[in-house]
Amino acid sequence: MSLIETMEKRQSVRTFDTQSISENDYRKIREYINNQENLVGPLGNKGKIEHIQVTNNVSDKGIKLGTYGFIKNPQGYLVGITENSKSTLVEFAYVFQKLVLFLTKLGIGTCWMGGTFNRISFEQEIQLGEGEFIPCITPIGYPNQKQRAFDKALRYVVKADNKKPWDKLFFADTFEDVLSKKEAGPFEIPIEMVRLGPSASNKQPWRLVLSSERKVCHFYIEHTPNYGSKLGYDMQLLDIGIAMCQFESACRELNIEGRWIIENPNLQLPNQQTEYIVSWNTF
Ligand SMILES: Cc1cc2nc3c(=O)[nH]c(=O)nc-3n(C[C@H](O)[C@H](O)[C@H](O)COP(=O)(O)O)c2cc1C
Repeated sequence: MSLIETMEKRQSVRTFDTQSISENDYRKIREYINNQENLVGPLGNKGKIEHIQVTNNVSDKGIKLGTYGFIKNPQGYLVGITENSKSTLVEFAYVFQKLVLFLTKLGIGTCWMGGTFNRISFEQEIQLGEGEFIPCITPIGYPNQKQRAFDKALRYVVKADNKKPWDKLFFADTFEDVLSKKEAGPFEIPIEMVRLGPSASNKQPWRLVLSSERKVCHFYIEHTPNYGSKLGYDMQLLDIGIAMCQFESACRELNIEGRWIIENPNLQLPNQQTEYIVSWNTF
């Protein structure tokens, strides 16, 4: 399966099969998270990913790992660790979304979680260094084909299947003109992959502006006011790292070469919540 197909297929999985993950798949997961290259973000920041095996929601250390009933039959968790700053959060999310795509390709279900888990119980499992915290986790396991009524209700509440249309998210040259798929040219698929990505409460805060000569694509965040303020970190910054990963993965697969730069074009912004983050520059 190509990465583009993987991104099209991925959905958050909250109900897992009771079957444990095969030894072969575990080996691949361990290799992946122990390979330092997989832990470096697009601008060089490094994070960590740790694996916790669970049986009936209890870890090998005997700690009960709580997800407030959101997740059924997880066979383990992958726990993200980084520092709490704008750049580290954005970059770490890119790293974690790459992991999510790797797992999806293996046939393993994931669900990004930033809020609905008991951080204290997870922190007891993990050795956190100075300044480190857990921005996100994902349960892992084989997806159970039969979704619980709870999952369906949750998908309905967060409007998980309701992805915003292009004209609400993507712009041509300035925020004044919407970008059509045709105008996006070679970037149509990379931009569509941004649209299909997961985001906290499915708020989809990414806004992209493609330059008229289709060389540079600027990534902005439109913050949802007060979102996640109780958690002590700006969870929506993770959504931008996810968008970068989706975009770049598609570009690489389509042989569109480029790199990430931070060079604010100082465009007129549509509102106060909108903030420039990063740009993709085609070679
Ligand atoms: C940063 C982030 C945090 C999330 N936190 C949670 C969470 O705490 N609990 C949960 O059930 N889902 C969580 N989600 C999953 C989103 O609700 C989900 O991605 C969104 O509804 C879109 O659905 P999809 O992933 O199936 O495309 C989170 C997603 C992201 C990207």
